Amino acid sequence: MLKNKNILLGVTGGIAAYKSAALVSKLRKTGANVKVIMTSSACEFISPLTFQTLSNNIVHTEMFNQLYNMDVEHISLAKWADVFVIAPASANTIAKMANGIADNMLTTVFLASRSKVLVAPAMNTFMLNNEATIKNLKTLEDRGISILDTQSDVLACGDEGSGKMLEPEDILFEIESALTEKDLIGKKIVITSGPTVEKIDPVRYLSNYSSGKMGYSLAKEAVKRGANVTLISGPTSLDIPNVNKFIRIESTLDMFDAVESEFENADVLIKAAAPADYRPAKVSDEKIKKDAKEDLESIELVHNPDIAKYFGNIKQKQLIIGFAAESQNEIEYGKGKLKKKNLDMIVVNNIKQKGAGFKSDTNIASIIDRDGNVDSLSIMSKECLAEEILNRIVKLF
Ligand code: PMT
Repeated sequence: MLKNKNILLGVTGGIAAYKSAALVSKLRKTGANVKVIMTSSACEFISPLTFQTLSNNIVHTEMFNQLYNMDVEHISLAKWADVFVIAPASANTIAKMANGIADNMLTTVFLASRSKVLVAPAMNTFMLNNEATIKNLKTLEDRGISILDTQSDVLACGDEGSGKMLEPEDILFEIESALTEKDLIGKKIVITSGPTVEKIDPVRYLSNYSSGKMGYSLAKEAVKRGANVTLISGPTSLDIPNVNKFIRIESTLDMFDAVESEFENADVLIKAAAPADYRPAKVSDEKIKKDAKEDLESIELVHNPDIAKYFGNIKQKQLIIGFAAESQNEIEYGKGKLKKKNLDMIVVNNIKQKGAGFKSDTNIASIIDRDGNVDSLSIMSKECLAEEILNRIVKLF
């Protein structure tokens, strides 16, 4: 979604400047064009050459430089940017920005800027909580500038508290969010993701290979588009995204209860999870020993509820989007599941295809609508597939 977008990055003096190098690298991987302005203090922490190499562009460090083009450079940079992100933003630069001081390239471009501006503060906790900084940040916020959160941690100076700059992936998310149309405002979207775990005894369980990546990508994309998002997730190793509500579950029965508690006032339920269809009939409180009567040569299983089907049958205003993980005849089986579970759309993936299904960062999917029309998509990242799916959901309202 950032492909060919122009991102202007302002870097001020602070140890977090090294994280901005990683941000440039991530931005370039999305296909964005990146230009960097550094203050003289920033150049004390990290070399302009680092940013020049990563951005593949000249780095702007001075107001007056013969190398720059014949346009008025600070104006052309301001016009060029789709988003201007200042990361790290020091207390000093924030104070200048709030008070209209333009005494270097960064603050001058800011004053001329008409694009969206994001500020990622990075400073000592006491500086962040100083009345002057609080007032300056409020002034900028009141003018429509987005002030990003900071993290709480042990800071470079040894003090503990807020003031640590967000991680590059979080800033990337905020940049994408700033450029995303808010077409899901007012919609509550419930997403299930990841595997379920069905206990056999205190050490053993039945599960599957779902990593949660598909569902988490959907949750992040829905947040970017302004939806109120509840993410119901089985055990995964992924970082919890910044959703309105996160519910961690273990078993398919837990997932059923969680969906039930969220369904009534939901507008959309997306079932990207891979819930286990069966669970052991009996769960042992103690570890089953190899020589015990009820050893593990066979396990009696019972059916779990089919969550998508249950809610498909009782839905009122809700749209229900299912997934189908198949290893053959995916379109035929997908169409069958769409009907049987009374879904509004189904996304089928053949888990045997390379780059599709469980665990991978990419997926290869066909989307089948209510009328049985099939749209087969080529291989793409799970983030891009999430965007495609939500584009289609928006059209269903
Ligand atoms: O998590 P990743 O590693 O990123 O992998 C993504 C994925 C492969 C898990 C995902 O793309 C996917 O295909 N999810 C559906 C997996 C699945 O359970 O498919 P199914 O064909 O068995 O079920 C069909 C639909 O019914 C699914 O929407 C499923 O969530 C739902 N279902 C299934 C069983 C059950 N007891 N209750 C359900 O609601």
